[in-house]
Amino acid sequence: MPTIPDPSRAKDPGSTPVVLPYFNQAPAPIVPIRPIGPEHRAQLLRHFLALSTDDRYLRFGYAASDERIRAYVDSIRFGQDEIFGVFNRKLELLAVAHIAIEPGQTERAEFGVSVLPRGRGLGIGTRLFARAAVDARNRGLRVLYMQCLSSNGAMLKIARRAGMTVHNEGGETEAYLELPEDNYQSHLDALVENQTGQIDYWLKSAMRQWRCFWLFGRCPKTV
Ligand SMILES: CC(C)(COP(=O)(O)OP(=O)(O)OC[C@H]1O[C@@H](n2cnc3c(N)ncnc32)[C@H](O)[C@@H]1OP(=O)(O)O)[C@@H](O)C(=O)NCCC(=O)NCCS
Repeated sequence: MPTIPDPSRAKDPGSTPVVLPYFNQAPAPIVPIRPIGPEHRAQLLRHFLALSTDDRYLRFGYAASDERIRAYVDSIRFGQDEIFGVFNRKLELLAVAHIAIEPGQTERAEFGVSVLPRGRGLGIGTRLFARAAVDARNRGLRVLYMQCLSSNGAMLKIARRAGMTVHNEGGETEAYLELPEDNYQSHLDALVENQTGQIDYWLKSAMRQWRCFWLFGRCPKTV
């Protein structure tokens, strides 16, 4: 396994400042991303169960059974980890990013992502990575890393485009991004993105309620 560099190097005032290449390249597509809480566990489960066997293999490193997926969703530590999602107009989770932080870990976090096939190729995976990098940075973490199969062309493209350092070993790839320290702008970016995602969710929710009321004369239980 390749070793992840000592993140403290990034704090060395004499070293070259770290930049996040993709973020400096406008324009990026607007994707309403919002943090996901435990109240969305059922939607998370539906999202992961909708992944094909091949996609489960790419996402988890093995062809996770439905049972394993249930256990994974139950084990998500909301509050410690961060989950971001993209909802479609039916309030289904089209895409999910998981930033996993080991207990006691203050330096690095692991990024995992999945986008349902109908949402792919629209830049959602790329935007979720950028959002995860801002979140990790704002938490004071120094490195965001991810593991994937070396055959995962889409994920490798996202990693390279974000300026990650990529190591291939056998059939597996590990990639990491050294994060700059947080600043006013990075917190503002996160705030604006969260608000945009929240407003998008409320609007979709209101539209859905209104449509059902119009068609059936009553509103469904709020998701
Ligand atoms: C990997 C994944 C998250 C990408 O999501 P996405 O929303 O389609 O990603 P984006 O649209 O931001 O970018 C994907 C890029 O890879 C390209 N791409 C797609 N398939 C590719 C392939 N086989 N080889 C090379 N590039 C590929 C796309 O054309 C796109 O590039 P572009 O923006 O220049 O057109 C999605 O395919 C997925 O959920 N796969 C299954 C789970 C998985 O692999 N998770 C990653 C493990 S951590």
